[in-house]
Amino acid sequence: MDWGLANRMHRMFSPATHNTVMLAVDHGYFMGPTHRLENAGATVAPLLPYADALALTRGMLRHTVPPTAQTPIVLRVSGGATILQDDLSHEAVTTSMTDAMRLNVCAVALSVFIGAPHEHESLVHLGDLVNDGEQAGMPVMAITAVGKELEKRDARYLALACRVSAEMGAHIVKTYFCEGFSKVVEGCPVPIVVAGGPKLDSDRAALELARHAIDEGAHGIDMGRNIWQSDHPVPMLKALRAIVHDKATVNEAMDILAAEKGPEVAAPRARRPQPS
Ligand code: 5RP
Repeated sequence: MDWGLANRMHRMFSPATHNTVMLAVDHGYFMGPTHRLENAGATVAPLLPYADALALTRGMLRHTVPPTAQTPIVLRVSGGATILQDDLSHEAVTTSMTDAMRLNVCAVALSVFIGAPHEHESLVHLGDLVNDGEQAGMPVMAITAVGKELEKRDARYLALACRVSAEMGAHIVKTYFCEGFSKVVEGCPVPIVVAGGPKLDSDRAALELARHAIDEGAHGIDMGRNIWQSDHPVPMLKALRAIVHDKATVNEAMDILAAEKGPEVAAPRARRPQPS
């Protein structure tokens, strides 16, 4: 791996733990103003100091993140379809490597849609992006997207999608956690980070997902909704960091979450009418 590419990788993945906590806020590129990401700048600002990398598009980077930010950027460079279409796989590379370099980002990311109508194009786009990335010293992260078919997220499918992405030359793969996740990791020679997916029922469930993913070989998380749609985003991010970097158990992470939240303020009780 050339120095520049290796340096960018090491800025995202801790040299001590080899893991990363990426904060994903790129949902708007196909979902529009997602709940709690309507004002992305306000959502991101308090979280930024606790993220090892921030994943977003060039538009949101330019308009919502101050250029004084030191956090490594993972730039989403694919797009071209929105949730108004049934087929979300009709994507292309929408941001050039030249613009990624100009923005001084640490990695570029695009979705691959294995088994979808535009599987072929998405894989060719990945190959082309890796060609450009190797030239520029820019890591490429492949995202194994499932479109609206969330039920696709099983080990057999994800192992195929991750392995194909690595074979195309991706330097990092982002995928989903699933039962039998260690099989997905086993077949993929590059670091895997896991997305959180739609908001889970509880903060605990998201912490459990992260704990299991790390235990089964993930090198970190690239999580969005389960952080910024939580009622306590910063405490949640700190608790996730403890899992990813400090080997915290789920119970220990829950303690961190509780401590960071501070004392819950009890709702004022209705006053009984006093006898006069
Ligand atoms: C959107 C993405 C997201 O970055 C990815 O799904 C992570 O976010 P979340 O944890 O909310 O699923 O790739 O296309």
